[in-house]
Amino acid sequence: MVDENQNNVDFGYKSVKKSDKQKLVNYVFNSVAQKYDLMNDITSLGIHRSWKNDLINWLAPQGNQNLADIAGGTGDIANKFINAGGNSAHIFDINKEMIEVSKKKYNNIRNLEWTIASAEDIPASDNSFERATMSFGLRNITNRNKSLQEIYRILKPGGRFICLEFSHLENDFLKKFYDLWSFKIMPLIGDKVTGNKEAYTYLVESIRKFPNQDELTQMFSQVGFSRIKYRNLSNGIVALHSGWKI
Ligand SMILES: C[S@@+](CC[C@H](N)C(=O)[O-])C[C@H]1O[C@@H](n2cnc3c(N)ncnc32)[C@H](O)[C@@H]1O
Repeated sequence: MVDENQNNVDFGYKSVKKSDKQKLVNYVFNSVAQKYDLMNDITSLGIHRSWKNDLINWLAPQGNQNLADIAGGTGDIANKFINAGGNSAHIFDINKEMIEVSKKKYNNIRNLEWTIASAEDIPASDNSFERATMSFGLRNITNRNKSLQEIYRILKPGGRFICLEFSHLENDFLKKFYDLWSFKIMPLIGDKVTGNKEAYTYLVESIRKFPNQDELTQMFSQVGFSRIKYRNLSNGIVALHSGWKI
């Protein structure tokens, strides 16, 4: 597992100074923001929609629950949470471009708010949300433990966090096709659609460097989450991790 106390941190397969990673990540999302949703549909063959639905189904929003969607980007999870019966959703994301896309998409949704903020320093009071989510965000964060601590802090006792993130395939045979698709095809599509091949090379490499299902479970446990469970989706291409603040 990555030792986050070192001076360097992974940016895909590169090792970069901790102080540089956020700038590189911001550059990636600035350059792809306008095409981010389209690229999600193309590179996942639309399956990211069903993964996000699986997250919402497991979370089972109720009318008395308020969501903090951390690294919420273009807003899919927050929108689905409200549509599924949640009371309100607050998107926190460090990237203004991504938030602007989200505001355009969902400006008519009631009880949806946005704040430009880092997951490592969330501008919310302790114990203020019933639910928290992070979908495809954690991989991009420089200090992941700090952001998990922040999520734990802002959840009310009895609150629940679900993380949706790329993970590690269970089946070696499928892995060969997945590697071919992701290393050979995805950067080419990224180049054609967004003009930024490197952004999608980073995406693929960052997935391979991300902690596996058990390691992420351990990270949840270290910050205090209880009743931690995970579910593999699409054979472990992605996983949902759920933890409770007791
Ligand atoms: C892959 S996108 C995921 C967007 C959205 N949650 C989804 O599932 O489609 C990753 C998001 O993380 C955001 N991000 C990166 N570093 C961040 C940080 N330190 N704090 C908050 N958001 C961050 C990016 O700006 C981007 O919007």
